[in-house]
Amino acid sequence: MPETASESGTTSPSASQPASQAPEQDLSPSPEFAAGANGTAELFEQAEADHEGFWATQARERLTWAKDFDRTLDWSEAPFAKWFVGGELNVAHNCVDRHVDAGNGDRVAIHFEGEGGDTRTITYAELQKDVAKAANALESLGVAKGDRVAIYLPMIPEAVVSMLACARIGAPHSVVFGGFSADALRTRIADAEAKVVITADGQFRRGKPAPLKPAVDAAVTGESPVHKVLVVKRTEGEVEWDDARDVWWHDVVDSASDQHEAVPHDSEHPLFILYTSGTTGKPKGIFHTTGGYLTQAAYTNSVVHDVHPESDVYWCTADIGWVTGHSYIVYGPLANGATQVIYEGTPDTPHQGRWWEIVEKYKVSILYTAPTAIRTFMKWGDDIPAKFDLSSLRVLGSVGEPINPEAWLWYRKHIGGDRAPIVDTWWQTETGGIMISPLPGVTTLEPGSAQRPIPGISAEILDDEGQPLHDPEAVGYLVLTKPWPGMLRGIWGDPERYRETYWSRFGEKYYFAGDGAKYDEKGNIWLLGRVDDVMNVSGHRLSTAEIESALVSHPSVAEAAVVGATDETTGQAVCAFVILRGGFADHGDETVQELRNHVAKEIGPIAKPRQIMVVAELPKTRSGKIMRRLLRDVAENREVGDVTTLADSSVMNLIKQGMSGSS
Ligand code: WT7
Repeated sequence: MPETASESGTTSPSASQPASQAPEQDLSPSPEFAAGANGTAELFEQAEADHEGFWATQARERLTWAKDFDRTLDWSEAPFAKWFVGGELNVAHNCVDRHVDAGNGDRVAIHFEGEGGDTRTITYAELQKDVAKAANALESLGVAKGDRVAIYLPMIPEAVVSMLACARIGAPHSVVFGGFSADALRTRIADAEAKVVITADGQFRRGKPAPLKPAVDAAVTGESPVHKVLVVKRTEGEVEWDDARDVWWHDVVDSASDQHEAVPHDSEHPLFILYTSGTTGKPKGIFHTTGGYLTQAAYTNSVVHDVHPESDVYWCTADIGWVTGHSYIVYGPLANGATQVIYEGTPDTPHQGRWWEIVEKYKVSILYTAPTAIRTFMKWGDDIPAKFDLSSLRVLGSVGEPINPEAWLWYRKHIGGDRAPIVDTWWQTETGGIMISPLPGVTTLEPGSAQRPIPGISAEILDDEGQPLHDPEAVGYLVLTKPWPGMLRGIWGDPERYRETYWSRFGEKYYFAGDGAKYDEKGNIWLLGRVDDVMNVSGHRLSTAEIESALVSHPSVAEAAVVGATDETTGQAVCAFVILRGGFADHGDETVQELRNHVAKEIGPIAKPRQIMVVAELPKTRSGKIMRRLLRDVAENREVGDVTTLADSSVMNLIKQGMSGSS
């Protein structure tokens, strides 16, 4: 049982998921929906009968290859996979040019909605020119195939164009979320040795311009691999300028030629690096390659979101700084030739109905968002979406964390008109694409459960000894049992960490995802949260170790322990316990405020602890490991659990006594 996974206090998935309060309603697919759906029961049979053949078919039917592959999978150097070996293709050609070549150049690729209400409509023909210009401009700045480019941009069309321009050249991009700090950006730039950074002067957040370029300036001063910074003008705010290093997008991109040859790249050529938090302080550079990743992004977007490019308007509300934005804003939908909405701003600017206004305006038919957003809308009130016409919606998606049945039912009723199927999609930065999810035309839905692996994917739930568990309600560890095309090819620059993190817990046969899970009596999989020291705050992955090291980098902190505590809206919230150094202990409240801001500065506002508790001691095992499980009990106001393995059993009493006074 994972409950005993580790005395150092790894998160134990709890088996006490609230049972669905669903009033009896028929959640099987309607015959009309099933008749037109991309996902079919036959796909399961085909994948079951011939796993590699199934994926080879997806690759050949969904993508355009400049050179066909001669081998589907090479797993001889497991866990390092090669998919579609010998094949060559260009991702940007697949996402843009071939749609124009097929006569769909006039189709809208992007309906852009700025936070302030400014809009841009970009057709595939226009996107082709934009991408070609950006690719030419990047080459003129010295970017060649294999060079890494960091992208630190808001949600504006240039973000998509930049990613595609990199893909076209074969220069792997590393997108860094615009909410990350200068320090976080510097670390990621250094690890990937990025030559160029693409950024903007600023972005609009809650009606106000928020600067972005100063973070880049700070991240590239001193010793840095970066020699050029390409800057999009978005907010027209004042910026510092380094003539030798900085170039305006409108100077070099707008004047570049709109013709650019899309040279094919090897199927295994690296497409991008995306950093994600792991159990240590150092973020992992997850990297994905070309043919396999694009196959899986296109396939899943088709069968799970049920995108019909000729009629749907698709909207994924993620930021391109996360993998959801990579696979389901850029690569999947564009490979499929879909029309999508991109919205720059926050959901409550200028009013709490902004998203629903956008759905009504563009007649969005597929909406893909996160449980934390849904719970926020629940809090804001049913009356807000009720004011808008949401009848265009026909598929709803959820991603990032488990969606509790209450939020699922609310989403179904108040957004989906008790009609649109909801796909709860489980996957990870590492998996590249959706792994476990209902298929909306096939699956009878179960509120709160991601249900089953999609065709082509196989999962198991294992016990502590690595034995498959099938008993309903028995809690174990989720593993993936067969390689899949979109799988990560490694951790950038650290093959050993890749092997160790994902392929050692249950041996080389199983990819260990880091999530707890169980089956219910119907055979549905329920995801129960992380079993390692990784938190999930608003669907974003944060590492306890990373926040702890940010805290101890402050002069006032002697020691710190961070846990993720259950939070009604954000899923989990960051709770920190700190021991202050002598001399700082007197300034309790002031120091706590300063520490919260310090974490925001070191990592980014999303990592800011909800709570910081000043304590005299931390609970530790005899071997000196912090028992986070006990701290979580405190943070969640629970009776403190078993303390027998504590080195000093009085510590927890001290912490609880101290709690009454702290913020
Ligand atoms: C972790 C991966 C997948 C893109 C966004 C997050 C959790 C994700 C679900 C879901 C339950 C989920 C898992 C996973 N997670 N989707 N539908 N149900 N949990 O990507 O930052 O790589 O995080 O998010 O814990 O391991 P990520």
